[in-house]
Amino acid sequence: MNARTSLTALAAAAALMASASALAQGAKLKVGLMLPYTGTYAALGVAIENGFKLYLAEQGGKIGGREVEFSKVDDESDPAKATENVNKLIKRDGVDVLIGTVHSGVAMAMAKAAKDNNVLLIVPNAGADAVTGPMCGNNIYRSSFSNWQPGYATGEVMAKKGIKKAVTITWKYAAGDESVKGFKEAFTKSGGEVVKELTLPFPNVEFQALLTEIAAIKPDAVYTFFAGGGAVKFVKDYDAAGLKKSIPLYGSGFLTDGTLEAQGASADGLFTALHYGDSLDNAKDKSFRLAYAKSYKLQPDVYAVQGYDAAQILGIGLTATKGDVSKKAEFAAAVEKAKIDSPRGAFTLSKAHNPVQDMYLRQVTGKENKVVGIASKALADPARGCKG
Ligand code: PHB
Repeated sequence: MNARTSLTALAAAAALMASASALAQGAKLKVGLMLPYTGTYAALGVAIENGFKLYLAEQGGKIGGREVEFSKVDDESDPAKATENVNKLIKRDGVDVLIGTVHSGVAMAMAKAAKDNNVLLIVPNAGADAVTGPMCGNNIYRSSFSNWQPGYATGEVMAKKGIKKAVTITWKYAAGDESVKGFKEAFTKSGGEVVKELTLPFPNVEFQALLTEIAAIKPDAVYTFFAGGGAVKFVKDYDAAGLKKSIPLYGSGFLTDGTLEAQGASADGLFTALHYGDSLDNAKDKSFRLAYAKSYKLQPDVYAVQGYDAAQILGIGLTATKGDVSKKAEFAAAVEKAKIDSPRGAFTLSKAHNPVQDMYLRQVTGKENKVVGIASKALADPARGCKG
């Protein structure tokens, strides 16, 4: 052993002893929430936290037999600040588990820090394919989706509708790129053609020049990934530009989730694909929606569900390890064989720890993303690059 490996081994042993003695003394479980509380994704961060805390409240405030103490960081959906922010939780606060985040670029920095420090991470939104691809591991989990999944499902839907030529438009960062890539994979496989890929930097919302370009190209349809505040503005601008009537707009379901109040009639009739919807007929969703509305005086959305399920995954893993976060293999074994009773419908996690789940076809009807069919049944991310 050289000096460096023996130091690492010492540090690991010290961490194990610290966690064992913390457990013995009934220490609280330190949960680090790293989410956006400002910017275009602020509402998404709040919904995730609400969902997480709803599950915790249902468990009497305990997870894996331990009371919970939160540390919070607003990551501002800013990848440039991500490493510093996650280290506040890992190094300054010494959290037992990281929950975050929404933005794929920030999530990749979190996954790297989680790997480097062997800290448990559960991603309650960000779809970055790499997190459950090359970065997969027995301390990395996702309760949401991979960017590939809703993109691929929407591509299948559009191809089935007989659409031949599409334009894509999105933000230029991992989520937009990977969502379009998933879409293209399914759409072109069925003979569709992507005639132009339009992008703008995240989180810009100056869509006008790009909408003019779409009008000039006149594709059969448009595929888009936008979310949060940006999605609200895009859907309204698309309608105001007069495009909604002539060029059907499709997207991964984030386009219309948690946004319908603000989008009003501009969203009416839009088709999207996502792993949640507003009119699912299952008992878990009914009780979840009632409880959420009662606690927060708000209707839940996909982000609230993903926060709730992040807490469920943590609960399943830590129940198996009796609250000990250092037992990563036992945690993984329990979660990998679990059927997670989600409001979206029960799902399992793949070997790479990404949900294997139904992608619903939804259509906006009034203030609802009404489920009108299944776009893709039990869709599993291909987990390219995961050597887990
Ligand atoms: C992402 O950056 O991965 C992302 C952000 C917001 C969404 C979905 C994905 O609604």
